[in-house]
Amino acid sequence: MQKQTNANNGKLPQSSEVPEVSPEFREFFIDEIKDIYWAEKLLTKTIPKMQKAATSSELVSAFGAHLTATQQHVERLEQVFELLGEVPKAKKCDAMAGIVEEGKSILEETEKGTHLRDVGLILAAQKVEHYEIATYGTLAQLSKSLSNKKISSLLEQTLVEEKEADLLLTDIAEKSINSAAAIEDISEELPKRTSRKMATA
Ligand SMILES: [Fe+2]
Ligand SMILES: [Fe+2]
Repeated sequence: MQKQTNANNGKLPQSSEVPEVSPEFREFFIDEIKDIYWAEKLLTKTIPKMQKAATSSELVSAFGAHLTATQQHVERLEQVFELLGEVPKAKKCDAMAGIVEEGKSILEETEKGTHLRDVGLILAAQKVEHYEIATYGTLAQLSKSLSNKKISSLLEQTLVEEKEADLLLTDIAEKSINSAAAIEDISEELPKRTSRKMATA
């Protein structure tokens, strides 16, 4: 059988081997894993607060289910660190910190028990999901250059769950909450708001 020849100084092609990534690429990748690890850990503390603030039973259970999923996302990232031979380390994600802060201000600006507050919670939650989808989408693609398929499959699993969570939130909003919020009469809440303002004046 004739051996395959090439112009690479007579060496046989190593097509089945994944080339080593550069140290800079690896560092960049690990840095982004640290970023989303911080974000996911923050979300395990934030989602219970969003769940408590929600009124619609569908939204309450969606937050509950996504809390369980988010705890798994943290665990999957810890597996990714392990597969990379790294100790799990979180690095502050300014974007997620900002989205969560914005969510807090939505709670301050809406009344408990209203559809409008649920609309605000869904808006904040979808901003979270979209950030996660962007991050996991890119990381899952980049991970294909690493010679470890398990890393890609862990990131892709989480990406699928983030997309499902986003679609579920859209579904809940469109089914009833958005239209109910549009015609909601929250005038009985006004005296409470006035007195709060007077109390702080
Ligand atoms: Fe997540
Ligand atoms: Fe998520």
